[in-house]
Amino acid sequence: MACFFRRSIAAKVTKLKALKMTLYANANLAACLDPGLKQDSVLEDISAGRGAIHFKVNRKLLVQVCQFSDDERFSLNSELFNTLKRGTTLVEYSSPNIAKKFHAGHLRSTIIGNFIANLKQSLGHKVIRMNYLGDWGMQFGLLGAGFGQFGCQEKLKQNPLQHLFEVYVQVNKEAEHNEDINQAARDFFKQLEQRESEAVSLWQQFREITVDEYQRVYKRLGVHFDIYSGESFHQDQAQEVVQQLQSRGLLKTSEKGTGVVDLSPAADMSKVYTVLRNDGTTLYITRDLAAAIDRTEKYQFDEMIYVTDKGQATHFQQLFQILLLMGHSWADRCQHVPFGLVRGMKTRSGEVVFLEDVLDEARARMLHNMSQSKTTKEMDDPEDTAEKVGISALIVQDFKGPLLSDYTFDWDRMLQAQGDTGVFLQYTHARLCSLIRRNEGAEAAVFDPSLLLEQTSVSVLQHLLRYDEVLYQSAQDLQPKHLVNFLLKLSHLIASAHRELPVKGSSRDVAQVQRKTLETWKQYI
Ligand code: ARG
Repeated sequence: MACFFRRSIAAKVTKLKALKMTLYANANLAACLDPGLKQDSVLEDISAGRGAIHFKVNRKLLVQVCQFSDDERFSLNSELFNTLKRGTTLVEYSSPNIAKKFHAGHLRSTIIGNFIANLKQSLGHKVIRMNYLGDWGMQFGLLGAGFGQFGCQEKLKQNPLQHLFEVYVQVNKEAEHNEDINQAARDFFKQLEQRESEAVSLWQQFREITVDEYQRVYKRLGVHFDIYSGESFHQDQAQEVVQQLQSRGLLKTSEKGTGVVDLSPAADMSKVYTVLRNDGTTLYITRDLAAAIDRTEKYQFDEMIYVTDKGQATHFQQLFQILLLMGHSWADRCQHVPFGLVRGMKTRSGEVVFLEDVLDEARARMLHNMSQSKTTKEMDDPEDTAEKVGISALIVQDFKGPLLSDYTFDWDRMLQAQGDTGVFLQYTHARLCSLIRRNEGAEAAVFDPSLLLEQTSVSVLQHLLRYDEVLYQSAQDLQPKHLVNFLLKLSHLIASAHRELPVKGSSRDVAQVQRKTLETWKQYI
């Protein structure tokens, strides 16, 4: 019932907004008023004055409308949400490179992809969460050869990512002047391509320990994957793709002897794209072509979303274009969600090398802030609180603006307790929880919404009515900013409500209704 009212009230508010626009544009205000409107139960009063029309929403109804139970939370305005197509959505995100340095882009891809997957899931899509590891290519030749020279199994077990990275850096340095190591790298990669067991088992070991390490970090971020795929999975298929391109007459040989696809006939693509090296090995794009074809066969997705930094936008445009040229019309259902760069992501010890360093730093700084704050109460597990709040701060900072914008990483700003931060969001949530906890077991009173009529609570309720619209916007353009800013504004409104509607000290009935309202608000945050 509440849900029905909520929808009807939201629809009315939209209608009123449209009406208001007409009225502004029309000099004869009174003539525009629909006499039926005045009798509408949603409106308490309509008046004209000083060049504007004022609508007063029936507050009692508004309060009732926003008191809905848990299971109604996501029963969204069907008129609006039925226009969204639901189906199987494959979201590919995070996708770090084994042994190479982690960069801020991987953190962004991880949290943005996770947001998109969660959003789609909550809207009723079947979601497949995929991590496509950078686990193939010449760098493994170097790593394999380098490990023989600089590697140590003991260190690999103790601190795998760190050790692999050290070996990678060392061997790359060496390769700058030592032709022998380059030859050794080529030999190792060839052994890998020919599936020679010794090379394969070392590579497998690198891959497994890296995935284990990453999984630990993903857990801290509340992120999981259904599938760990990777470039290595599509090595053989990539050669088949080259043959398909050839048989369709799409493959040309360049002057350098490389295999290229000429995209110039396609609109605004005047480039040729290399899919095969002159030594016959495949590239990143070739493996992506193979991976996409494989995924459509295996998962029959209705849409596939790739989340990477905007630097790869051309790569994905070309990928989709080549797929279309090959006759794969489903490439139209593939989408790249690009995001901007993060500048200045540094920890106290310097430049960021691993994702875990960023999370540790967020926790340490938060713990420090908590210890400095006069209002922090004693906690059972301050480390755990600092971890959760610090990570929320990181995510909220990232999600506030348009994804495509670059932004500067700012520890101090993101960890502020006040303002538009994840800390503030967590604080609001904790405050509501504690209020509810303190009142647990309190004697039940009759819930009378007519007692809750202050402007401050009405503002919160009016804001809550925008929830469907905001969710819909995020579902359409896959930008988390709509939802995050909605929640931040809600938290500010709740803060005023806390000040102006104290549960403590109010009469039993008023306290009861206020508490119930706060419980409803908590469900959103
Ligand atoms: N591993 C790549 C990188 O770190 C990202 C992979 C993106 N996904 C893809 N299908 N190409 O740059």
